[in-house]
Amino acid sequence: MAAAFLNQTSKPERLDEKRSEILDFIEQQKQVDRKVVLVTSGGTTVPLESKTVRFIDNFSVGSRGAASTEYPFYSSKSRTCTRILKYESETCDHTKGYAVVFLHRNRSLKPFLRHLSTYNFLDLLELDGENQDAPVKVKSEHQKRLSSILRDYEQVQRDRSLLWVEFQSLSEYLHLLQMCSTCLQGLGKSAMLYLAAAVADFYIPKDQMPEHKIQSAEGPLQLSLQLVPKMLEPLVKEWVPEAFVVSFKLETNKDILVSKSLQALDKYQHQLVIANLLETRKREVKLVTTDNCVDISMTTEELSSGHEIEEKIVRELASLHSKFCSPDGH
Ligand code: PMT
Repeated sequence: MAAAFLNQTSKPERLDEKRSEILDFIEQQKQVDRKVVLVTSGGTTVPLESKTVRFIDNFSVGSRGAASTEYPFYSSKSRTCTRILKYESETCDHTKGYAVVFLHRNRSLKPFLRHLSTYNFLDLLELDGENQDAPVKVKSEHQKRLSSILRDYEQVQRDRSLLWVEFQSLSEYLHLLQMCSTCLQGLGKSAMLYLAAAVADFYIPKDQMPEHKIQSAEGPLQLSLQLVPKMLEPLVKEWVPEAFVVSFKLETNKDILVSKSLQALDKYQHQLVIANLLETRKREVKLVTTDNCVDISMTTEELSSGHEIEEKIVRELASLHSKFCSPDGH
């Protein structure tokens, strides 16, 4: 099913080039003995026309994925700090931790940059002087925050521990997910997959899609959408069978959240489901495994002081992954 879906949809541009980049990146991480996590983030679009003017989208802005991408860099055993997201004044230990392949929707939130997403970029800057060629500088009130973000970003760039891979449509995402996962195969158990993207469940097959822009003059639009095969199945069985795989389960009805998560674990045989409700996803999640269900939540004080639930999630996952990798599982 998954293979048939991938065969009938066109591959993203420069797929082979991207594959080489990812394999190089993974090789570099192997050399410094760093684990690698593939974080997927943001929503996928479903085109209604081949020459796409309109598409179906979903709510996801990619905060979960972007926030979760910042923490693995610091989550090593020799970790010395807890990252404070207000970007005040903390120094972090960047040794080891994880490297991240960040498979994200274009224009969704990005790690580091997301801390500035509520600002108008131009309001952060000013001209240093009156004349024509006066240099641009950061306003004094934003210096501390910006230099802290920049310091972390530059460190990650220097360490070469973050690789950006972009998608927009559902088919781009699924092709890239397959490619990234198979590239991780060589890492065995030390690869983690953290599938936070909000992936469409319905699509229009290519042979049923109009080529040109749908005309409103033709009257009301009736859509018939087909089911997208679940990619977790080949991902766990074939693409990256040894890795530590974490999927997400999003629901709006709390009564079915845990049972659906357990069903997913049973069906796909992966390691863990992070269960979240649309409305409360920033303050509570459940980490569901076949034999346990751990609640992770944030207090009002933690949230108001700028802490994020992703920090706790990543810490817990790093510890579970470490047990998963150790020969006796402890
Ligand atoms: O981005 P934010 O605004 O911060 O929101 C974060 C989030 C709510 C999107 C995130 O926390 C989350 O729950 N992501 C998963 C949403 C989702 O697709 O849930 P689902 O129940 O439809 O799918 C469950 C799992 O199946 C997902 O891990 C998905 O990767 C996988 N899937 C989905 C569709 C598909 N065709 N194949 C799949 O393998």
